[in-house]
Amino acid sequence: MREQLKTLEREALLAVEQAEDLPQLQDLRIQYLGKKGKLTAILRGMAKLAPEERPVIGQLANDIRKQLEQALSTKTTRLAEQAKLAKLQAEFVDITLPGTPFVLGHQHLITRTLEEIQRVFAGMGFSLAEGPEVETDYYNFEALNIPANHPARDMQDSFYFGPELLLRTHTSSVQVRTMEKMRPRPVRIIASGRVYRRDDDATHSPMFHQVEGLAVDEHITLAELKGVLLTFARSIFGEQREIRLRPSFFPFTEPSAEVDISCFLCEGAGCRLCKDTGWIEILGSGMVHPQVLAVSGYDPEQVSGFAFGMGVERIAMLKYGVDDMRHLFTNDIRFLRQF
Ligand code: DAH
Repeated sequence: MREQLKTLEREALLAVEQAEDLPQLQDLRIQYLGKKGKLTAILRGMAKLAPEERPVIGQLANDIRKQLEQALSTKTTRLAEQAKLAKLQAEFVDITLPGTPFVLGHQHLITRTLEEIQRVFAGMGFSLAEGPEVETDYYNFEALNIPANHPARDMQDSFYFGPELLLRTHTSSVQVRTMEKMRPRPVRIIASGRVYRRDDDATHSPMFHQVEGLAVDEHITLAELKGVLLTFARSIFGEQREIRLRPSFFPFTEPSAEVDISCFLCEGAGCRLCKDTGWIEILGSGMVHPQVLAVSGYDPEQVSGFAFGMGVERIAMLKYGVDDMRHLFTNDIRFLRQF
């Protein structure tokens, strides 16, 4: 029996030594020390021993059990540590390697210009208004006194969804919407955003941006329009600027005027930018047509108003010397970063 125990001890210790992972160790524990294990099996033979041998063999069996338990626990710790080490090595990250840098974006020149324009008018007491890009024929044309045969109403020039709906062709569509909402109070707003036309070449894009201005109140005069636009021109293009109003025609204003600023490149001497005239056209404007006031619910005998509209791309190109409008739409970060 002593021999059996000694053999079991050697065999078990060797097996523990050679075990490669924790499940194997668990199997060995059951195989040798479990209730139905090999050690118990041997000890069942104790009954046949002489009484004086029993304590000796019992002691030996106990020593072997302790030793085996010790070996199992040592090996368990070692295997657990090895597993942890292997996991750490597998997950090793070299934090000294250079990373993948994020490419930072840049504010678009249109946004920048638009914010500059908005700031100037905010300083003169104009608040922001807005209207939808998908607009009705009524607000885009009809209410603005634009006759049925006007070229802008042609399918060739505007994007229609049907007979009544289209992509707005100008921000003037916000005028009547705003007056309806604010009546009978005075109006002093600018409205900006995208507008759409069927054009596409170096100086026209099917989508571009406009800023509309509108003021309606008692005693509003052309002189006030001129003062507001002069302040605008000087804030954006420099304190030396002068403006001039040239008579023009828009169905929704009467009288109407195109507004020029004195050329900031040649100071009026004549150059390529101003085509040797000394003046650069920047926007359209006029006194709100009595008919437009009337359809908006204002009494043209009581109030008057002025309106103006400008292209943001045009202002940006003039101010920042961009020679091709397409630069504003290709969104090349190298172009945008210059501003
Ligand atoms: N809506 C005109 C256009 O897109 C611009 C314009 C002209 C707006 C005169 C106005 C204005 O408010 O008074 O060409």
